[in-house]
Amino acid sequence: MKITDFLQWSSARLEELGVESARLQSELLLEHVLKEPRLELLLNQNRDLTDNEQKHLFGLVERRSQREPLQHIIGATCFCGLEIRVSSSVLIPRPETELLAEFAWKHLSREYSSRNSPLTLLDFGTGSGCVSIAVAVNCRKVHAWAIDVSQEAIEVARANAECNGVGGRIQFIQSNGFSSLPNGLQFDLIVSNPPYVPHGEIQGLEPEVRDHDPHVALDGGFDGLDFFRLIAGEAGAFLRSGGGVMAEFGDGQNAAIREIFEQHQWKIDCIEEDLNGTPRFLIALPSKSLKDLR
Ligand SMILES: C[S@@+](CC[C@H](N)C(=O)[O-])C[C@H]1O[C@@H](n2cnc3c(N)ncnc32)[C@H](O)[C@@H]1O
Repeated sequence: MKITDFLQWSSARLEELGVESARLQSELLLEHVLKEPRLELLLNQNRDLTDNEQKHLFGLVERRSQREPLQHIIGATCFCGLEIRVSSSVLIPRPETELLAEFAWKHLSREYSSRNSPLTLLDFGTGSGCVSIAVAVNCRKVHAWAIDVSQEAIEVARANAECNGVGGRIQFIQSNGFSSLPNGLQFDLIVSNPPYVPHGEIQGLEPEVRDHDPHVALDGGFDGLDFFRLIAGEAGAFLRSGGGVMAEFGDGQNAAIREIFEQHQWKIDCIEEDLNGTPRFLIALPSKSLKDLR
């Protein structure tokens, strides 16, 4: 079998089973198995595949056709240009979250350009660590804490930080909400992509998400808003004067989230859209002084 035959067969098989971007996914599986850049492989489509390569590829196409995510099969994904390893213990980082990380490092670099001491970030619900790692890589003055209720996720995140050269600037701890953060810690920015899917909608998600992302990373409670109530209620005590919160939220949650933060005395600085023009990110500042919030 030649590369061209494999691509034709695999694309047709995956497409027939409802997998999106079947041709691209087939090319990425090929790149993974042959360990050569995709574009080079596409220029050599008449190359014969060895028996071992074919066997390996057929196995991976079978896994993908069972709707196992490509990122789990490959074991990694790309986030803000960085390689982030993933497993079934962590949410696969989503492209829209790259914008959240970018807003965070740009905000910190801009607001504190003259500060010589470290800029401090808390990543709430770090998962694979993608957000705090991307911020630390792009803003060398950042020292971060990253928390997650899942110890397995913390281990994946810590390994990702090491691989991306920022392990020394991110402190990872397992924590249910803010409960295990040492008293007295205060941050310039708290960033979060919390679980925000309404509990009752999880069963209706695509199989790749429903059956492979950890439910603890998806489930935002009855209306999807539990974690925004938690953050709005408790994050203020962990902010330095002038600090703020940046959070990603789901489709149609804009108005409810504004209301939650306003009820907890936050000032909404702005709501930013994702690349599709859908409101997706909240940037809020406590409107009371830190003294009043504690
Ligand atoms: C939507 S995922 C985001 C992961 C990662 N930050 C990203 O953007 O890809 C939400 C994360 O929140 C974590 N989480 C869920 N409940 C939590 C809790 N009570 N306290 C802290 N983290 C929690 C989950 O384990 C999961 O890793």
